[in-house]
Amino acid sequence: MLAGKRVLLIIGGGIAAYKSLDLIRRLKERGANVTPVLTRSASEFVTPLSASALAGEKVYTDLFDLTDEAEMGHIQLSRSADLIVVAPATADLMGKMAVGLAGDLATTLLMATDKRVLIAPAMNVRMWEHTATKRNLETLKADGVLTVGPDEGDMACGEFGFGRMAEPLEITAAVEAALTDGPLKGRHVIVTSGPTHEPIDPVRYIANRSSGAQGAAIAEALSGLGASVTFVSGPATSAMPGGCKILRVETAAEMKAAVEQALPADAVVFAAAVADWHVTDAGPSKIKKDDKGGLPSFKLAENPDILKTIANLPENRPKLVVGFAAETDQVLENATAKRLRKGCDWIVANDVRPETGIMGGSENDVCLITENGPENWPRMSKRDVATRLAQKIAETLS
Ligand code: C5P
Repeated sequence: MLAGKRVLLIIGGGIAAYKSLDLIRRLKERGANVTPVLTRSASEFVTPLSASALAGEKVYTDLFDLTDEAEMGHIQLSRSADLIVVAPATADLMGKMAVGLAGDLATTLLMATDKRVLIAPAMNVRMWEHTATKRNLETLKADGVLTVGPDEGDMACGEFGFGRMAEPLEITAAVEAALTDGPLKGRHVIVTSGPTHEPIDPVRYIANRSSGAQGAAIAEALSGLGASVTFVSGPATSAMPGGCKILRVETAAEMKAAVEQALPADAVVFAAAVADWHVTDAGPSKIKKDDKGGLPSFKLAENPDILKTIANLPENRPKLVVGFAAETDQVLENATAKRLRKGCDWIVANDVRPETGIMGGSENDVCLITENGPENWPRMSKRDVATRLAQKIAETLS
């Protein structure tokens, strides 16, 4: 419930603004007070009157409104809320937030606030995938801005893909998570994610396929339940999770050092696809191709098993150690054996045969193996797997 909480809702100028009117209703149903702020372009999509009628409050639109300034200055407005929500967060608004522009009321409030900010991005799929948007999103996340969505689906512009604003109920849940002390408050969880790159020479490396999407979703879900999360990521292609401390590494040795440095922790989730070997004689010069077709040779050595090391720590072992098993054959048997071999508490097993579409896809098919045996989860989105796993971790640590 959001009783007594005040949300400052900045409505950006996108077609999804109509959903923000419903968002006002949903937030009010949960007991929140909502102060709407419309950007100039938002007023082209929804009227200030509709927002005001639904919120039952005055709507703010103009930085230079003398009456508004006399009644409540913009600084006070930005601080009187418990949370600022930007929905829809357009590409334009995200760009302005990322560089710190403050040319209108909405962006000035975002710069002047001392409260947390939650954005619900919404834009055309190409705009969402644009390098500039990706860069802005990374910047905003590193600044501690929380995000919800966007979702995948049909868009008003006729295209299909990621960019649809999260549904009002989804945003309401994110608001509740941001304003509630979650069950993992005061707990520290480390999540490893992504591949590791083991250099062969300065330009070539050995790696596993891994986008880092599942690890990032788990980190975000744990953070949403109030945990303080250290996210140790290899060179992943998916976006870094919001609200987490991020440690970027390249190799398995660096990943191990980063995890050890981040201890102690209440739980560790090893979602990374760590390369099994590294090249012991990787040199500083690029290996030249032999014109006569001769092949290079290099020496391999096994990488340290980070999961096994942490699961078998004689002191300061985290209460819960969770490993992953990406298998292509006899998933259950291999994963069950792996749990015992590594000494971890749980194994999240998944079938990564190419035909499952799990590697690099948005869904996952998971079997959780604990001391009580296997628990088959239905196929669901990686985000839902993350939510379910985070909830189970919270129950176990409580
Ligand atoms: O042995 P395998 O690579 O299949 O084990 C997978 C699990 O072990 C994953 O949780 C992975 O993050 C972890 N692991 C690790 N260090 C390694 C190899 C795997 O932490 N060197």
